[in-house]
Formats: sequence, C-alpha cells, structure tokens
Amino acid sequence: MRDFQYLCDIQEVQEDKATIVQIGKRSIGVFKLNDGSIHALLNLCPHKGAALCEGPVCGTTKETNDYEFEYIQRNEIIRCAWHGWEFDIKTGEFIVDRKIKARKFLTEIKNQKVYIKLSS
Ligand code: FES
Repeated sequence: MRDFQYLCDIQEVQEDKATIVQIGKRSIGVFKLNDGSIHALLNLCPHKGAALCEGPVCGTTKETNDYEFEYIQRNEIIRCAWHGWEFDIKTGEFIVDRKIKARKFLTEIKNQKVYIKLSS
C-alpha cells in the first residue's frame, strides 16, 4: 500500500459508467467491471484531450467472417465521446492500435476503499 492514496469508497463506484473522482489537478475515471475488478484511468483521451471517462462504457465488435460480427468485451470498453476511439478499460489500450494508451493507474482495495498509485 506504500505510495497509494485514497480514491473513493468501493460502493461509490458505478457498474455501467465511470465514477469520476478529482485528486488535485487530476480527473480520474474509476470503473467496476462485470468480474468485480476495479480499474482507474486518467480522464483524458490521448487522441485530442477529451474527457475520455465521461463517454459510454460498452463492448466492441470483432469480425468473424464475411457477414458477421461478434460483440465482445461487454462493459470492458470506454468509448470517447468526441471521435469514438475505444479503449480497453483493463489495459488502457486503444483497441485499434495497442501502442496508443490512456493513462492507467494501479489500484488496491482495502476495507471497502479504493486506493490508487498515481506515480508509475
Ligand atoms: S478526443 Fe477522444 S477520440 Fe478524439
């Protein structure tokens, strides 16, 4: 828990959209996924600087053959509201080009409270 600081209580974290928490000058989006895991992303899109975490939480589509798409990663994707770029909440990666990443923070849960490590 060294270098971690309090972010919010776990019951404040919503299931189908980000909970936005301000820490100093940083706006952080906190997510609870279907598997119960908690993730935190900087609320800043690496494309053009929109408030990334205020977009919809959704899944994405994967092409399976010439005529079908499969809906995958339900509620594990954050879609930026400005231009629709989709990021994997678990990794922060832009799903089209995994080298582009939203800033992701380590989180820890202790006594029903969420802690975050702001430095890398
Ligand atoms: S600013 Fe987020 S997709 Fe363009």
